[in-house]
Amino acid sequence: MDEKLISGKAIGKEIREEIKEKVAELKKEGCTPGLAVILVGDNQASHTYVRNKQKSSGEVGMKSELVELPSTVTEDELLGHVAKLNADDSIHGILVQLPLPNHIDENRIILAIDPAKDVDGFHPVNVGKMMIGQQTFLSCTPYGIMKLLERKNIPVRGKHAVIVGRSNIVGKPMGQLLLQQDATVTYCHSKTEDLPAITKQADILVVAIGRTKFITAEHVKDGAVVIDVGMNRDENGKLCGDVDFDAVVEKASAITPVPGGVGPMTITMLLENTLQSAEQTLAESQGQK
Ligand code: GUN
Repeated sequence: MDEKLISGKAIGKEIREEIKEKVAELKKEGCTPGLAVILVGDNQASHTYVRNKQKSSGEVGMKSELVELPSTVTEDELLGHVAKLNADDSIHGILVQLPLPNHIDENRIILAIDPAKDVDGFHPVNVGKMMIGQQTFLSCTPYGIMKLLERKNIPVRGKHAVIVGRSNIVGKPMGQLLLQQDATVTYCHSKTEDLPAITKQADILVVAIGRTKFITAEHVKDGAVVIDVGMNRDENGKLCGDVDFDAVVEKASAITPVPGGVGPMTITMLLENTLQSAEQTLAESQGQK
C-alpha cells in the first residue's frame, strides 16, 4: 500500500528545504522574505492554520508578522491594517486568514491587498492572470496538488480530471491548472446528477467538498489517481478526508492520505509564493540601481 501513497508530508519537506536554501541566498543579498498574516477573531481552526504557517515560515528563515485583531474589528480598521502592510517594504506577502466575521465583506478586503503581495492568489487580478495562463501567484492548495503530481511523475496531458467541489479557493482554480497542463476537465458539485457515473470516468479525481468519507469505492475507477483535499473529523474526532481511504486505496493507483497529503503542500506553496514575491522585489530594486 505504501507505494501508492502520495506523501505531501515528504514532498512538502523536500520543497521547503529548497526554499530554505533560496531564502539564505536572498538574505546574503540583503533581502529577508517577509510574510504578514492577519488573523481576525477566535476561530480555532484558523488559529491552528495560522500557527502552522508562522512556524513553517520561521523554519525556512523568513520573517513572519502576525496581526491579531478582535472579531469586533470594523471593516475600515481592517482595511487600514492591509494598507499599512501594502506600504511596508519588509513585507512581501500578505495573507488575510479566512473566514472573516460576517459583518466584514471578504471580497472588499481581498481587493484591497496589493496584487503583488497577494501570496494566497485570491485577488481578482491574480485569478484573472491564472485563467489566461500568465505568471502570477497561484492559489496554494491547487498549486500544491500540481506539484505533487509533478514530483510523482503522474501524467496529466490528455487525462480525464474530475474535480468534485467548485470553491473559488480550490475547485475552480484546480480545474484551470489541470486544463493548462492539457487535461480534459469536468467539474462536479452538490447539484450534479449521478455523481458516481462521472467520477468513475476520472483518471485523476480531486475531491474538495468538506464531507467526511463521502467518496467511496463505488465512485472510483480502477487505477485512478485520487487527491483528497478534505480536512474533517470523523465520529471519533479523528482527522479524515472527503475520501473513504481504506476502501478507495484498494482501487486507486495513487492516493493522498489525510493527514499528510495535501495539507502540508498548501503551507509549502504559500512559502514558495512569498519567496517568489521577495525575489521579484529584489530583482526590481536591482534593476532600478
Ligand atoms: N482559510 C482556509 N484556507 C485558507 C487559505 O488558503 N488562505 C486563507 N487566507 N484563508 C484560508
